[in-house]
Amino acid sequence: MVKIKRHKRFEGVFWVDNRLATKNLVEGRKVYGEKLIKTKEGEFRLWDARRSKPAAAIYKGLRTFPLFKGARILYLGVASGTTASHFSDIIGNKGIIYGVEISHRVLRDILPVARERKNIVPILANARMPEEYGWVEEVDVVYADVAIPDMSEVLVRNAELFLKRKGWAMIAIKARSIDVTAKPRKVFEMEKKKLQKYFEIVDFVILDPYEKDHCLFVLRKRN
Ligand SMILES: C[S@@+](CC[C@H](N)C(=O)[O-])C[C@H]1O[C@@H](n2cnc3c(N)ncnc32)[C@H](O)[C@@H]1O
Repeated sequence: MVKIKRHKRFEGVFWVDNRLATKNLVEGRKVYGEKLIKTKEGEFRLWDARRSKPAAAIYKGLRTFPLFKGARILYLGVASGTTASHFSDIIGNKGIIYGVEISHRVLRDILPVARERKNIVPILANARMPEEYGWVEEVDVVYADVAIPDMSEVLVRNAELFLKRKGWAMIAIKARSIDVTAKPRKVFEMEKKKLQKYFEIVDFVILDPYEKDHCLFVLRKRN
């Protein structure tokens, strides 16, 4: 008998036999080879912490996770949709994910996912040039996972243009994308200083051992 527990604080997040999961929006369909578990309460998709940084952050004790049913999300670096598919489960059909990706080749892989999940809108564009997708509406959350040296600046620029007042942001930072020689802790501290000018820092977790030398910040727009 499968044991299902709702996450105590995070909407749409579950523990299925003590493993993190979301409820599959498109039953019977996998996105990245994840395990599906059928139960009386519906079908769940295990959320793999080695493939998705927010999952790693939750396993590492994240206290604030600002997604909710119906949320509008701007996702920078959506890639082939591994993490976005779990966000899609959480926000449901009333929410929407605008997924920006610079690589044509990578974005191709999200197209079949977006065909089935009507709440994912793939956008081929450079997150450094948000004017390219200036038509995107105001959002509740911006999530950035672009792995580029100026990722914090790129997040701020996008938040200025698209994030609502007091809206939320999350950024996954890979220390080596910013400075290959510096100690990861130093890099995280440096990025925190940049982010603090624009956001309130709400939460911070280091993602090792799931993702080596990565961290995740949860942020709130000041006004
Ligand atoms: C670490 S991967 C993202 C993984 C994805 N977030 C997930 O968890 O499923 C980083 C992605 O950012 C994309 N990227 C890099 N620079 C970018 C830019 N300037 N604008 C948009 N996407 C970018 C890369 O092509 C790559 O697909």
